[in-house]
Amino acid sequence: MSEPLFQVKQLEAGYGEIRVLWGIDLEVNQGEIVCLIGSNGAGKTTLLRTVSGLLQPTAGSINVEGQQLAGASSRQVLTGGIAHVPEGRRLFRTMTVRDNLMMGAYLRKKDRSVVDDLDRVMTMFPRLAERAHQDASTLSGGEQQMCAIGRGIMSRPKLLMIDELSLGLAPRAVELLSESLIEINNSGIAILLVEQDVMTALDLAHRGYVIDRGKISFAATSEELRQEPAVREAYIGAA
Ligand SMILES: Nc1ncnc2c1ncn2[C@@H]1O[C@H](COP(=O)(O)OP(=O)(O)OP(=O)(O)O)[C@@H](O)[C@H]1O
Ligand SMILES: [Mg+2]
Repeated sequence: MSEPLFQVKQLEAGYGEIRVLWGIDLEVNQGEIVCLIGSNGAGKTTLLRTVSGLLQPTAGSINVEGQQLAGASSRQVLTGGIAHVPEGRRLFRTMTVRDNLMMGAYLRKKDRSVVDDLDRVMTMFPRLAERAHQDASTLSGGEQQMCAIGRGIMSRPKLLMIDELSLGLAPRAVELLSESLIEINNSGIAILLVEQDVMTALDLAHRGYVIDRGKISFAATSEELRQEPAVREAYIGAA
């Protein structure tokens, strides 16, 4: 068995005295889309923030292609190959769409490959190309998410982590974004998707984890999770 691309082992983290993550084990293999589902406050955002170096773990390990990243800075994590599309998208509102996308490449050498990648993002998201010189604040919610994902790809990550793909978006926008994620995944980027809408998550992902009060309660293929009575009852609303 080859090593997973990304591996979190016995990860613990929290805010001051408040412990949120209690020994998380999670893996993403090369080529996979993996989802993380769980109710409000379960610790999904905390996990992504800990992986991306915004929050320091109190125990455990984070590994990407054999490189240890627990305790690393956000910059080191990005250089290590992990990009984070945060909850709420966090674009630079008064900067143009193009400049927001270019921010994703801020740690890369500014050579031809950056321009090529920008072209690729604009081709993948024609709506961003049409709006390249508008301020990000003028984008619709779905377009903002496209821009946030595009910015993530501009760092040429091995793993793209997305916190709440569909939150607040119309079904059509979610469909378009889902198609783009499949295209991104087919281009060789693994994806860790945090998603409240469990059906959207399981439709997209090969495998999934359920997090409940800071612990992984289920880890299985999407098909198995869909059939699991406890998951259906708690997260899909059908026993
Ligand atoms: N900055 C903070 N300071 C203290 N506690 C926090 C902070 N951020 C989050 N928490 C707490 O950590 C727990 C997990 O929050 P987190 O945001 O990781 O959950 P989540 O699974 O992403 O929830 P949601 O589905 O609502 O986005 C919650 O109890 C929350 O109140
Ligand atoms: Mg969250």
